[in-house]
Amino acid sequence: MPVDLLLRNGLVYTQGKIVPRSVAINTGLIEGIYETGLEPDARKVLDCSQSYILPGMIDAHVHLRDLNQSEKEDYASGTMAAAAGGVTTVIDMPNTDPPVLDKATLEWKIERAQANRFVNVGFFTGIPKDTADITSGIIQNVLGIKVYPHAPLSEGVHYNGVRIRECLKTAKKHEIPLLVHPDISDSTIKPESIEEFFSIHGCVSEVRALEQFIFAQNEIGGRLHICHVSCAATAKMIEEHRAEESLTGEVCPHHLFLTRNSFSVENGVPKVLPPLRSSYDCRILMDALKRCTIDIVVSDHAPHTSDEKNQSFLDAASGIPGLETTVPIMLTEVFQGRVSWVEFLRACCSGPATIFGLRTKGVLAKGYDADIIVVSREENIIRGSKFYSKAKITPFEGRRVVAKIRTTIVGGKIVFDEGRFLVGRGIVGRVPLRKT
Ligand code: DOR
Ligand code: ZN
Ligand code: ZN
Repeated sequence: MPVDLLLRNGLVYTQGKIVPRSVAINTGLIEGIYETGLEPDARKVLDCSQSYILPGMIDAHVHLRDLNQSEKEDYASGTMAAAAGGVTTVIDMPNTDPPVLDKATLEWKIERAQANRFVNVGFFTGIPKDTADITSGIIQNVLGIKVYPHAPLSEGVHYNGVRIRECLKTAKKHEIPLLVHPDISDSTIKPESIEEFFSIHGCVSEVRALEQFIFAQNEIGGRLHICHVSCAATAKMIEEHRAEESLTGEVCPHHLFLTRNSFSVENGVPKVLPPLRSSYDCRILMDALKRCTIDIVVSDHAPHTSDEKNQSFLDAASGIPGLETTVPIMLTEVFQGRVSWVEFLRACCSGPATIFGLRTKGVLAKGYDADIIVVSREENIIRGSKFYSKAKITPFEGRRVVAKIRTTIVGGKIVFDEGRFLVGRGIVGRVPLRKT
């Protein structure tokens, strides 16, 4: 019996080196990896000569908005951006309008994502004021619980020691990680100057947040995942406190490659939380990623409208799109020799699969889900105007990359090929993703 699809004669990383191989796909799974000439027959063949065949990225930090904020992004535009950017799985954040604090809102998101998806979509939940209101009906459909100490999703909540312990206990009870946006600044203080913004959301606040959560974790146990680590000091703290998988962390391309000083002070485009830091922080973060102190790379794709971004710094919305820039930027590091293949594959594919319990994803090997990208080593300039995301303003505008996503395959089906979408919405991928 012929297999469904053969990716013929691409470049595959296996046993420590890049070699020519073909990848066979059948019933949505990787059937095997073959030397050229030894492949099984296939109903469809895609010539991948000179191109790299890689697992698609699992982006564990994405804001797809939708619901009452569809003008910023919706599940169709956001997951098209993912597919075009080489991301085959996204995990959607709960700070939506309305926020995910109850079963009905989560079900609304699931329904919207199922109908409009172009890739796999998993979810994180927020945590209601009464942590006991997190029911199994919510838990079975999420991959983690996210908290925002500087901007709590539930009204009347303050992230003191008692609350932090309750959150950790809840996550531990349900055997999922507690994700934290590491900023414990006072949400009631509105900055009156740019300096004040950077001081409120400074590394002191990131360190203090980490101290409080790690201190509580030492008592309660459970798993803690630190979102978008942005400071050298917090990377060092994670290194000191790491104990196998109970403390994990992520970093974004904008914190690895951009600094506050490379933009004019008044420019709202690079405004993001946590803010851009110094070149010293960038260097230490890259070092931490390479040494596995920080486990994974995420985009923190946070779309806003052009009107919201085209403002002076203080008035601009925080957040930048990242689904269409993360894989090309990280692969450029690989192609130019600054990041190894092992580091890339761990940070963008197998690492997030391990942390969030997606055991059938993130690896290009027999038996895994056929979530695959085909990439050519070719020059491309990042242009926000070409994004599928509704958010077209990026601080990476004009950056030269040397990686181009040619084809994206989700669950064995070709979704995106040479700049075109081959399937309609709501057909490929699984929603919601559950721990496997
Ligand atoms: O800059 C940010 N934007 N940081 C966050 O934590 C949230 C995000 C958003 O949702 O826009
Ligand atoms: Zn955040
Ligand atoms: Zn975020």
